[in-house]
Amino acid sequence: MTPKFKNPRAKHNFVGRTCSIAGIGSYVPEKILTNHDLEKMVETTDDWITTRTGIKQRRIAAKDEFTSDLAAKAAQRAMKMADITADKIDLIIVATITPDMPFPATACIVQHKIGAKRAAAFDLEAACSGFIYALEIGQQFIMSRTYDTVLVIGAEKLSAITDWTDRNTCVLFGDGAGAAILQNRESAHGLLTAVMGADGEKADLLFMPGGGSKCPATKDSVDARMHYLRMEGKETFKNAVQAMQSAATEVLKRCEIDISRIKCIIPHQANRRIIDAVGERLGAKPEQLFVNLDKYGNTSAASVAIALDEAVHSGRISRGDLILLVVFGAGLTWGAAVIEW
Ligand SMILES: CC(C)(COP(=O)(O)OP(=O)(O)OC[C@H]1O[C@@H](n2cnc3c(N)ncnc32)[C@H](O)[C@@H]1OP(=O)(O)O)[C@@H](O)C(=O)NCCC(=O)NCCS
Repeated sequence: MTPKFKNPRAKHNFVGRTCSIAGIGSYVPEKILTNHDLEKMVETTDDWITTRTGIKQRRIAAKDEFTSDLAAKAAQRAMKMADITADKIDLIIVATITPDMPFPATACIVQHKIGAKRAAAFDLEAACSGFIYALEIGQQFIMSRTYDTVLVIGAEKLSAITDWTDRNTCVLFGDGAGAAILQNRESAHGLLTAVMGADGEKADLLFMPGGGSKCPATKDSVDARMHYLRMEGKETFKNAVQAMQSAATEVLKRCEIDISRIKCIIPHQANRRIIDAVGERLGAKPEQLFVNLDKYGNTSAASVAIALDEAVHSGRISRGDLILLVVFGAGLTWGAAVIEW
């Protein structure tokens, strides 16, 4: 039968190709804010923060350093590892809840900063789950042969939306960025599978009420501190453990992989107790879990990307190893992915 029109995708008969992380990189700002520094800002103690969260310090971006700056620096490191120049990049996805401004997309600003003139660019917002959402979306373009090189970034300047008078939240978060170059690598399976999930019924567990169409910025909204994030810590904690466990279980089941075969589990770095509870429920050994939240706190969409970069560059992961990423965030959102590194 003569086709009625030309469908550029159909010529491949939709046979997918695999998608690997060809390069990973991260960047955190220079300024360190320790628990002892926080003791001088709110009624808290290093001991409380350490025992309840595992966090010892976090990085804080400079006044004139924005999410796009952190993202661009992480991207340049990922490009170096992948041995590519910016003109090779077809698409940039930035996962963030702290864009430089509501629009245009921070991804467009990053595109300009790194000189990726050919690339399409957009932001996605899945809070702390953003990096896995971005990986899964980016992977679709590689698999479908639409693009050869996709740059995915998780980047946050959470210090800009943190209420530094609220001890319930200000001790938890930090700034940073992680980036990955996605490409097909003949020699690897790469991203084997990923799950993504959401539950908007629980949107008010972790949110920022002001600054959107529901509550644009006014003097009153600023006075009411509506442009800072708010969180129900205990409920968020319970949901995080449950959602991360079930997402991780689902991806392992799909790949028919027992947890013991996973070289390194890279969980969202929100709270040491959440990580330990998830690890225990999955039947993982403590040494399988990668933890760096003591240094950075919760950097939301950047969290697993920074952790993956550190795990790779510290030698915890080698090419061929199986790794498991698992995340949770506002939305609620969650996700997990199994990757043959
Ligand atoms: C926030 C969190 C650390 C609090 O730990 P918790 O064990 O649940 O603590 P509680 O909520 O029971 O608070 C206990 C007490 O400590 C107090 N407290 C809260 N923050 C404090 C701080 N920084 N320093 C000292 N005391 C603090 C509370 O006011 C409360 O006091 P009260 O009993 O007099 O009311 C924990 O709930 C958590 O990590 N939740 C998940 C957060 C998260 O991961 N969010 C991001 C998801 S992507």
